[in-house]
Amino acid sequence: MSTLLKNTLNIGFELSQHKNNSRVQVLKLSKNTVEKFSKKIVDHNVQSIEYKPFLRFYLADCLNKLTDDTLGKFLLKTLKNRSTGAILLECELLNNSTLNGIEFIDFNVLLSTAISHLIGIPNLDSMSGKFYARFSVKNEDNSDSYLRQAHRRMELHNDGTYVEETTDWVIMQKILEVDVEGGDSLLLHVDDWKDLDKFYHHPLAKENLQWGSPSSKNITYKTSHPIFLEEMNDGKPIMSFIDQFVEPLNIEQGLYLYEMGDSLEKETNTSNVKLPEGSMLIINNYCWLHGRDKFIAKKNLHRELLRQRGVFAENTGDNDK
Ligand SMILES: [Fe+2]
Repeated sequence: MSTLLKNTLNIGFELSQHKNNSRVQVLKLSKNTVEKFSKKIVDHNVQSIEYKPFLRFYLADCLNKLTDDTLGKFLLKTLKNRSTGAILLECELLNNSTLNGIEFIDFNVLLSTAISHLIGIPNLDSMSGKFYARFSVKNEDNSDSYLRQAHRRMELHNDGTYVEETTDWVIMQKILEVDVEGGDSLLLHVDDWKDLDKFYHHPLAKENLQWGSPSSKNITYKTSHPIFLEEMNDGKPIMSFIDQFVEPLNIEQGLYLYEMGDSLEKETNTSNVKLPEGSMLIINNYCWLHGRDKFIAKKNLHRELLRQRGVFAENTGDNDK
């Protein structure tokens, strides 16, 4: 096989386009890749990767080598390509034969850690105090934001709006699902938002706005930035918006944001994406808005998500300032 041909092949995983949105690339790790990965990492556990940051890169390298280094290249190429920028990563099979005795949830934490360290480095999650956070959604909730509330739709937004760190990408992984109906992930690419031009060419589009967050987020400062950030290399707009944490200071800002939230929630180009247990969405945070559809009320509803947010390797310095 020529080197040129070999470089264009992906080893150990298969690709297709998502049926609800052709921008979303569905990546399925083969049973063989999962089995070999779990065998390689069987001596490590969640506590050890929390305590020793270098182990996270070791996991990433183990997984990448099993794909002949094609996985990391594909993930980065896809995330940085504005026209795609989103991956639904699934495993062909996760059971006792492929997990080599590793608990299902632990394996998923180790797998998403390998993935995050192939695309850069995760930011410290101030809600959990770790590089990742786990969230439960149950039938009842008393929290101070919409993150865990099951019976309402969580509106489309970007992550990292109220922190100073750059947030190039977000990983959302489903690690547990019991008695769940509804609750699909919602995705909208900035370029598919029909009202983009109207809001992007508005006088307030590039004006600094104030951003804050409720106490559960453990962020004590406020930040300031516009909704539309500096364009990417291609000169097209990227966004940093969330309705709950932007703090308008006058009627003009309030109405601009009100109309924007209304337009986004009415957008018919928004796609539903189901996340099966053991799968994860990896998205470019500035090209895609994400949200969550409401759940159907069920008494034993229990769903747990793992989240990581971070930067591409070349932007790690941005978050050390
Ligand atoms: Fe989010």
